[in-house]
Amino acid sequence: QNDTVRRAEGALIVGAGLAGLFAALKMAPAPCVVLSPLPLGDGASSAWAQGGIAAALAPEDSPALHARDTVVAGAGAVDEAVARSVAEEAAARIEDLLRIGAPFDRDASGRLLQSREAAHSFNRVVRVKGDQAGRAVMDALIAAVRRTPSIRVLEGVSVDDLALSDGRVSGVFARRAGDLHAEPILLQAPAVILAAGGVGGLYAVTTNPSKVRGQGLGMAARAGALIGDPEYVQFHPTGIAVDRDPTPLASEALRGEGALLIDETGARIMQGVHPDMELAPRDVVARALHRHIARGGKAFLDTRASLGPRIAEEFPAVTAYCREAGIDPAREPIPVRPAQHYHMGGVLTDARGRTSLPGLWACGEVACTGLHGANRLASNSLLEALVFAARIAQDAANLAARADPEPAPPPPPLRPAQEGDPLRAAEDAVRALRRTMTRDVGVERDEEGLRRALREISRLERGTPCASRAFLNMTSAATLIAAAALMRRESRGGHCRSDHPEADPAAPARTQITLTRALEI
Ligand code: SIN
Repeated sequence: QNDTVRRAEGALIVGAGLAGLFAALKMAPAPCVVLSPLPLGDGASSAWAQGGIAAALAPEDSPALHARDTVVAGAGAVDEAVARSVAEEAAARIEDLLRIGAPFDRDASGRLLQSREAAHSFNRVVRVKGDQAGRAVMDALIAAVRRTPSIRVLEGVSVDDLALSDGRVSGVFARRAGDLHAEPILLQAPAVILAAGGVGGLYAVTTNPSKVRGQGLGMAARAGALIGDPEYVQFHPTGIAVDRDPTPLASEALRGEGALLIDETGARIMQGVHPDMELAPRDVVARALHRHIARGGKAFLDTRASLGPRIAEEFPAVTAYCREAGIDPAREPIPVRPAQHYHMGGVLTDARGRTSLPGLWACGEVACTGLHGANRLASNSLLEALVFAARIAQDAANLAARADPEPAPPPPPLRPAQEGDPLRAAEDAVRALRRTMTRDVGVERDEEGLRRALREISRLERGTPCASRAFLNMTSAATLIAAAALMRRESRGGHCRSDHPEADPAAPARTQITLTRALEI
């Protein structure tokens, strides 16, 4: 083998959030290599999750009821068999995390405490110190990964391209993170598990870490993978409206505790919008706030009566975000606005996590398993990541002993910059892309805006000198979202078309699309 080709021992896991690390742990003692662009724990959306993990554990609750809530929230687009099986496996995955050392909150008798979140019919969300679940679970996973000898972690490594040999994913092209134009190295592996996170950084207003930019979705789509439901993007109603990028989140669990959504006069914004008021499905609440703000109003989350000074102890992350912005949530309402939060769509998988490309599996936010439909139920995302990571670890382990394929040809070189500062041009292009996505492919969409977005994405892709492969992944992911949103001439869950405001019962609720098809639209 030459200097630019290496062979990974065991499966390659691209991404080191909850899905990637849990897959690695479940694979042990079979060897695997985890690729992370940043030091473990940095930059992964999982660590920012405030709510927790949904699991039907209470005696009066059941996996069937959890699956039912998931299906109802998903607006007719949930794969019901997937919802049932995921809900059934939830308790076992929580047990796994407890064994690994996740410090979930317990009551005085030792029972796990569970919070209420919107559209759940029970208190079902296993949590840590109110709003620290993601950070605490990630810390426990990272410690477990570090003490597992079969897992090799390569930090500071980015992946922009999948390698294909004989129609099979045979590895990835990896480079030093931070150097967009470094010579890529081919890392070959019998199995590649994509766990590279969501698409938040494609939007100007997002709760996701800034480097989460649709990389996984873009590279799988460019390799020819089938993409599912890309138009279904979730906007969280209560991003904290302060001048920060990414937008800090005020957890839905606050509304579970009785926090109210009020306007500038103190009136309840959800009055007359939905009988469940603040606990209506997330898409309904996000739309109500978006419309109120678009009409020139202001929106606030008022925790004064429900939590008062208790907020500091029960929601330390939210309290810290507010205080940094000079807001005391015990005394004043928190200004909020909807922010891109989660991608229900992604690389299409079957129930084992296999994608349409042999050799490639996907789990976590980058995947579209059919669990979330058109609107994800709160705290089902970490659960889905755990369940599918465990399934994939089992499925992919069987392939670990394949013979080395012929090395895949390297990706073609990109057009070099002719003039100007290429890095500056790339930053400008990313900013323009993010503005376009928030304006035209955001909470409410219409045909004119979506066509404008597709033109602008294509212009940015073609017109950016020295565009990197990372940027191509971004524009590919953005194209898929905008094209599928244009094709779906109805409103459903997180996909709202102001020019087609009703659901169309005759329209198939799910989308399967390739990048080639999206580029034709
Ligand atoms: C939240 O805490 O509101 C976010 C939970 C989630 O997105 O599932």
